[in-house]
Amino acid sequence: MKTIGVFDSGFGGLTVLRELLPLIPDTRFVYLGDTARLPYGSKSHETIARYAISSAKFLADQGAELLVIACNTATALALEDIRTALPLPVVGVVEPGAQAALVAAEKSPQGIAGSHVLVLATTATTQSGAYSRTLHQLGLRVTEKACPLLVPLVEEGWLDQPAHMAVTLEVLRLYLLEALEQAPEANILLLGCTHYPLLKPLIETTLKTLHHPMQIIDSAAATASAVAASIPGATPIAEGSPGCVFYATDSIEKFQRLGSAFLNQTLPSVELVDLGG
Ligand code: DGL
Repeated sequence: MKTIGVFDSGFGGLTVLRELLPLIPDTRFVYLGDTARLPYGSKSHETIARYAISSAKFLADQGAELLVIACNTATALALEDIRTALPLPVVGVVEPGAQAALVAAEKSPQGIAGSHVLVLATTATTQSGAYSRTLHQLGLRVTEKACPLLVPLVEEGWLDQPAHMAVTLEVLRLYLLEALEQAPEANILLLGCTHYPLLKPLIETTLKTLHHPMQIIDSAAATASAVAASIPGATPIAEGSPGCVFYATDSIEKFQRLGSAFLNQTLPSVELVDLGG
């Protein structure tokens, strides 16, 4: 395996790339953030599939031999469309995230039978029912909650400055309160959007305030492990960042600035690409 393409509607997929880098050595990563057409999470299946296929084709043209759809919305609505359109192995985030929730349920005091997974995701992801189908097949109870305000808050970086953080915490509190009214017994919280790992500390704080502890599952790490497992001979390395090339379809300045927070390291350079509308 020489080149892996990683695709997201924007920056969120960098949380998956962050997990992939130390796991898969000797690999060139090509990342595309389709920032001009973000958000995917409020769009229709047809539009999401069209955007996702054109983005996937771009990565294939850059030499990707395996594609990681590091976007929950594109995975939930267009994984099969992408697989049909391209003769490449394609890994999405929903199945690995669900498998990680299953492992958490197995290890929980409630066990699989007593566990209930609460999935936070975009509107399109929740409407697709992809997480519910996958988790039900694994024998887990599930409630999905659409949280459309969370992606803009993360995109604006409203995560640490006290006044901004207070707004984000209040939004999280309202979403979690509503979700827990529907699923008061939920014990596992699955972050079904690649933007949400950046909210993890604030989600933990909110759960404490609500006196409702839950185990938080982040599909980014689970997806990276699934990709590594699919590549024979890939052995974990402690440190090191093999070659990465970054493309974005909108402002490369913003991509570099925000992307560094998602990747947890400075982005070297980003190239602008036009994939049309
Ligand atoms: N990357 C998308 C996801 O994981 C969130 C951003 C968007 O709506 O495009 O669902």
